[in-house]
Amino acid sequence: MVDISRLLSRRTGRMKASEIRELLKYASVPGVISFGGGLPNPETFPVDGLVEITEKVLRERGKSALQYGTTEGVDSLRDAIARRMRDKKGMDITKDNVIIMSGSQQALDLLGKLFLEPGKTAIVEAPTYLAALSAFRPYEGEIIGVEMDENGLKTDILEEKMKKFRNEGKFVPFIYTIPTFQNPSGVTMSLDRRKHLLEIAEDFGALVIEDDPYGELRYSGEDIPTLKSLDRDGRVIYFGTVSKILAPGLRTGWVIADKEIAWKFVIAKQATDLCTNTLSQHIIAEAFDSGLVDSHIPEIRKMYSHKRDLMLDMLEDKMPEGTTWTKPEGGMFLWVWTPEGVDTMKMFPKAIENGIAYVVGEAFYPDRSVKNAMRLNFTYSSDEEIKEGVGRLAKTIREFM
Ligand SMILES: Cc1ncc(COP(=O)(O)O)c(C=O)c1O
Repeated sequence: MVDISRLLSRRTGRMKASEIRELLKYASVPGVISFGGGLPNPETFPVDGLVEITEKVLRERGKSALQYGTTEGVDSLRDAIARRMRDKKGMDITKDNVIIMSGSQQALDLLGKLFLEPGKTAIVEAPTYLAALSAFRPYEGEIIGVEMDENGLKTDILEEKMKKFRNEGKFVPFIYTIPTFQNPSGVTMSLDRRKHLLEIAEDFGALVIEDDPYGELRYSGEDIPTLKSLDRDGRVIYFGTVSKILAPGLRTGWVIADKEIAWKFVIAKQATDLCTNTLSQHIIAEAFDSGLVDSHIPEIRKMYSHKRDLMLDMLEDKMPEGTTWTKPEGGMFLWVWTPEGVDTMKMFPKAIENGIAYVVGEAFYPDRSVKNAMRLNFTYSSDEEIKEGVGRLAKTIREFM
């Protein structure tokens, strides 16, 4: 066996297997109900519609749909997305601002590649999307979290930190946020905070990254303008994806950015995969143009909003005093604060013993500083599992206290 430890690059030391993956191995033990995964419910995938579209695409455009494509993406899809982003998200953009990605996860990796290096500091929400941390870490910048509350990122604290960084000579290329139905907390950033965030970014010359996989999955309340629609000077880079409105297996997302920034993403992407799966892109363009996506989203909303309500009712019913949780207006996750001193990492073995799994909250913090929290997914489990699982979770917290 070759000893590769001397051969590996320094950055591999910063690459770790996803914590969720490791912990969720236990969740596949028979009998364990898991609120830990982040998967859409497969019952929502429009399989029949996609069979029809795939056949049509292959018959009508098979030769180009199976060929390499441009790195920017298939034109008909870029057009369809530009139209959708103008109509639904209020963005003032054209197809030239749209670059197709192999999932928005690729956009996160390229973001790190383009803007991070030793001596640079990325700002994220605390908590934030775990796989964004995994994407940024290998690029060797510093990652600093800024607290949130029920109105999203605390922009007054962000402003204080940015002033401090400036005095210390720290350079912040971007602030990364998931402002709508955040993964992991389910929280949505208020309009005032969105405006404040953009002012701060302008003051300090930083970009704002708006990651928005869940924005179309609203179950209650009113839409809030996207950061990109409020952007006056091309400072916001927006990431979208079909993973939660169609199917994640298609592995297709997009970046919306000013042309100069979009071109940087194209160059970086070219070196990693030349282009996104061309067949997927043709299928998705057809799914948008034929109305499949629009007729399908209400069905996803109906199923998920029912499951959200069920989980919230069960939490209300079963949780011990001192436990609190967020009440998301959309998305796939909610966040639970366990009573002070209840460390959810230490509690995890007991949870598995009781047949329930979650993701420990500390994994979502760049400095792992918060111990008494967890993320619950409400979209994947059956209604019966939600009812039974919340009961098991409440029992586990009581026993652990
Ligand atoms: C906030 C956030 N960003 C990005 C992604 C990755 O999505 P994609 O499937 O488009 O790569 C996810 C997936 O769960 C997510 O929650």
